[in-house]
Amino acid sequence: MAHTLSSAGRRIAQRARSLNSSAIREILKFTERPHMISFAGGMPLSATFGLPALREASVRASHGAESFQYSTTEGYAPLREWIAREHSDSQHRVSPSSVLVTSGSQQAFDLIGKVLLDPHATVLVERPTYLGALQSLSLYEPEFVSVPMDEHGLVSKALESIGPERAALLYLQPNFQNPTGARLSFQRRRSIAEIARRTGLIIIEDDPYAALAFDGRQVPSIHSMAPDHVIYLGSFSKVLAPGLRVGYMIVPRVLEQKFVQVKQAADLHSSTLSQRIVYETVREGFLASHVLRIASLYREQCEAMLSALDRHMPPGVRWNVPEGGMFVWLALPEGIDSEALLKDALAVKVAFVPGAPFFARDSLHHYIRLSFATAAPEQIDLGIERLAALINAYSRVLTPYLATDLHR
Ligand SMILES: Cc1ncc(COP(=O)(O)O)c(C=O)c1O
Repeated sequence: MAHTLSSAGRRIAQRARSLNSSAIREILKFTERPHMISFAGGMPLSATFGLPALREASVRASHGAESFQYSTTEGYAPLREWIAREHSDSQHRVSPSSVLVTSGSQQAFDLIGKVLLDPHATVLVERPTYLGALQSLSLYEPEFVSVPMDEHGLVSKALESIGPERAALLYLQPNFQNPTGARLSFQRRRSIAEIARRTGLIIIEDDPYAALAFDGRQVPSIHSMAPDHVIYLGSFSKVLAPGLRVGYMIVPRVLEQKFVQVKQAADLHSSTLSQRIVYETVREGFLASHVLRIASLYREQCEAMLSALDRHMPPGVRWNVPEGGMFVWLALPEGIDSEALLKDALAVKVAFVPGAPFFARDSLHHYIRLSFATAAPEQIDLGIERLAALINAYSRVLTPYLATDLHR
């Protein structure tokens, strides 16, 4: 038996060998323990799912046998039309033919890897970036090159100096980035769109958090500025329910057929029933008011987290002030190892995600990602107080070493 396992193990293909299970999935196992205060998951609060609307839509969607039948690879036509309308305005019209429904937006990374990445192709990513994208794209063996970002998102000037013309792709998130919470400024979107038009760069604009803006303000997408150069990814996971696994890509016209072919090869099509449930839920305009409710709830929870951080964190800890989404990105004093901190935090029933896996290379170990989406405000305060006490203790141990360093 042991012999069979080890010889099968040796047959694992090169591209899968370095793949690890996502750090977040591993941590989520701990968060299911009783009384755990979890800032770890990127999942939405289940109370935001709008269950009555989903239930009614499910009944309507499951009427006919066709909801349980195979369907077209491109996706359910009324849903594709709805998505195209949502992304169209007087300046910019999206055709339903450029919309491909995917099994969560996560599937899009795999399809993009198949269509656009040869081994060793250069993929530009934000520093830091969404680790699920790194995990999925890494199966196509690219070389990741990180582009710096600040509180206004990816630094477009830095992109220019990196040499975008030699890259196969640029992957970025314009709104409330996972993990930093940053929103890319309008000016930078314009510069990045201009760079793409000038150099032929293809951009993956991954945008699952756009609707969760606390101020309700929508900044125009890069897709609307350079539709022939952008693959736009949308998702119903954060605004409806992630278990439905319905996301979508809007792709440049020249790539439409190729994406349909690889999607067909991958899974024939996404769940017929899930797509119809989504369509039945959103068709009469349910989302417009629903996302306002979710954003206002998350805003309250975010404020609770920011004021708890202000109250409890020792000097030397820095964080961003998000304008939407689900995440606060915390910089600890350098020298504190966030993985070691996590072990101690789990012991006092607080979970978070250490920052290192969000870096494509040269990981920094003194960052952590905190989600404010799933914990209630009073839990947030208690969890941050416990975390701050630990960080304080770590800082005190560190101080003599830091002081010695300064004397050198
Ligand atoms: C930035 C980002 N992109 C894509 C995804 C994948 O989402 P889904 O496959 O549920 O649409 C996530 C999930 O957390 C995410 O945070």
